[in-house]
Parts: sequence; structure tokens; C-alpha cells
Amino acid sequence: MRTFKKSKKINAFLMKKQEAGMHIGFVPTMGALHEGHLSLIEQAKKYSDLVVCSIFVNPLQFNRKEDLVNYPKRIVEDTKLLEGAGCNCLFIPEVEEVYPQPPKIKFDFGSIGVGMEADYRPGHFNGVAAVIDRFFKILNPDFAFFGEKDFQQLAIVRWLVHSTHSATQIIPCNTKRYNSGLAMSSRNFRLNESELAIAAKIYQALSFALENKEILMPEEIISKCKSMLAIDFSVDYFQIADENTMLPLKSWSDSNHPRAFVAAYLNGIRLIDNLSLID
Ligand code: PAF
Repeated sequence: MRTFKKSKKINAFLMKKQEAGMHIGFVPTMGALHEGHLSLIEQAKKYSDLVVCSIFVNPLQFNRKEDLVNYPKRIVEDTKLLEGAGCNCLFIPEVEEVYPQPPKIKFDFGSIGVGMEADYRPGHFNGVAAVIDRFFKILNPDFAFFGEKDFQQLAIVRWLVHSTHSATQIIPCNTKRYNSGLAMSSRNFRLNESELAIAAKIYQALSFALENKEILMPEEIISKCKSMLAIDFSVDYFQIADENTMLPLKSWSDSNHPRAFVAAYLNGIRLIDNLSLID
């Protein structure tokens, strides 16, 4: 695996590969890699001749300074995992490489940039869109792979590609879960064994939503799931929304693609997850 730290170097390297007819697959990450990320690499290998993974803890997308400071850093372990997974290139730039000038752009995402993560993490999606925009300009990938665990982020990235007329094709990838149902996440590194068991209740609440959608209204499910979770978590939101517009549903007839979304703190660690409510 080749490692690059400089934008110009990786840009020139990848341009040559594309000129030679190779297709580039890109997996952006913030490191602290787990099986979920490795499944993105697996997927990327199926679509592309050359797989690039970035590890960059993007300061622009953190609205709480302590989250940025506490974000797990495991570059040695990450490099080994990527090598084992068959990743071809690792891009680990410094902040100045990604943002030679601080980006000033303020995106207007419409309804997908309102509610849920957008409300609880002001500025977060602007930071995500800014970094993905920069990476796409530096790497010009043919494909980019995003996990459905961050479903609203996936919608934001699709919006970005559409609005910037980017040629990169976005490939959504299923959320990887432990047997308990808990979604894999870098934040799980900060949970102990008993907390990991409790964290699985998030998936139980999402499954309750799926199992009860024939008999309960969205509002009723939301209120029951919030009460279930409130025993162990401090809940930011439990929401049922259309997965394309992210608009909350009052009634099931409001959407053909309903999805349940949740964000909750377990002992100070913020966990998010979501589940399609179509069987
Ligand atoms: O999902 C993440 O890890 C980050 O938001 C991403 C897409 C790598 C952008 O920094």
C-alpha cells in the first residue's frame, strides 16, 4: 500500500492511473477503523481497479471541541487493517494540505440539511460537504463509498455531487452490525463491555419501530421508543422521516420510504443509527 501525505503528489499519481484506464474507488474515513470501514474497502475493490482510503479527522465537522480532541487516533492499527484488506493507497494529509485556505462556502442543503443531525450538530454537514468537496477535487474518484449508518450524511453527499455536477458516483453500503444488532462505529472504541451490551438497545428500539409500523402511528412509535431508550440513554432524537427528503412523517401515507433515525448519548458517548421501515 502506498501512503501519500501531499495533495499534489496523490493527485498526479491518480491522474496517471486514470489516464491508463484505471477506475479509482475512494473510501473517506476519519480513522479508528473497524469492520464497517473494511466492508467499504471490500465493496470498493469490487467496483474499482485502485482503492484509495483517506484518514483525516476533519476539524470543520466537529461542533464540540471535546469530540475533536477525544476522537480516537489509531494510525498504526489502521494502516495494518488497510494493508490486510487490500487497500492500494492511503491518503493522510495534514489540515493545511486539505484546506490551504479556510473554506468560506456555506451550503444550502434544503430539507435534508434540516432536522436530526443538522439540528443537534450545527455546522456539521457544512464541514462534511466542505471536506468531501475538497477530497473529490484532489482525488477525482470514479466511485466513492459511504455507509448507511450515517444516512443523513449520505443524503448530503449525494446532494453535493448533484449540485457540483461531480462525475463521482456515490455507492451506499449497508450498515455492519454486531450479532447484538449494535451498529459498528469508531465511537464504540470508547464503550466498555457492559456499555456495549446496553448500546444494542438502540437497535432494539429501531426494530420495535419496524415491527409495529402496521399497528402504531409514527408519533406513537416515536414516543414509545424515546421512553424505552430514556432508561439508559440521554436521547437527542428518535425520528421517523422520509429517507429521501428527511422530512418527518405525521402519517405512514406521507412516504413510500420511511426510515427510523436515532441519536442518543450513553455515558457521554453519542451514538447514532437508523433503519429502513420497509420489510
Ligand atoms: O463519516 C465519516 O467518517 C466522515 O464524516 C467523513 C465522510 C470521512 C468526512 O470527514
